[in-house]
Amino acid sequence: MTNELFEIARRRRSCRKFTGEKIPDEIIDEILNVALLAPSSWGGHPIEFVVVRDKSMLQKIARCKRMGAQPLPQADVAIVVMANTTGLELWIEDAAVASTYILLAAEQFNVGACWIHIRNRAGQRTTADEEIRELLNVPDNFSVLNVVALGVKGENKSARTTKDLQLKNIHREKF
Ligand SMILES: Cc1cc2nc3c(=O)[nH]c(=O)nc-3n(C[C@H](O)[C@H](O)[C@H](O)COP(=O)(O)O)c2cc1C
Repeated sequence: MTNELFEIARRRRSCRKFTGEKIPDEIIDEILNVALLAPSSWGGHPIEFVVVRDKSMLQKIARCKRMGAQPLPQADVAIVVMANTTGLELWIEDAAVASTYILLAAEQFNVGACWIHIRNRAGQRTTADEEIRELLNVPDNFSVLNVVALGVKGENKSARTTKDLQLKNIHREKF
């Protein structure tokens, strides 16, 4: 029996170069459907997504983060991952799980993807989170964890193999 999820997980690599070709909306929807199935604390599903395809907006979002957002301007789509954080203790965990589902779902469709981190990152004037929320009309009680940049792969990174697994990180019964 092949382990399909293992195959997807070992092929998934951060893709930071995109060809500029368009990914069909249906594929983006399939990826988002997977993200909506991510588990969340108390099953509360607090994570919301803003899907951005507008090129000038992608560039503006990239500028909201002082460093490490280079993949965004050439991406075809950005999914901005956020939550209404009012009274929510575990929104970061929930958003991280949903983002991971996006990365894996993207790989299943051979779509390139990269996690661009936003939370606790500096913007041009204030924080990257605040500047992105301003751009996208996101209410003040929300926080952005990250933006996932998506596009047709413009670079080919080698899949991980079983040799790459950090087996030493696994402890059995006791540390
Ligand atoms: C929490 C987190 C934050 C990350 N932030 C960024 C980022 O801001 N910019 C970026 O280009 N990559 C970012 N990455 C991608 C990592 O650099 C990448 O996953 C790591 O180098 C391993 O490479 P791989 O994804 O190809 O396996 C982030 C990944 C995670 C999980």
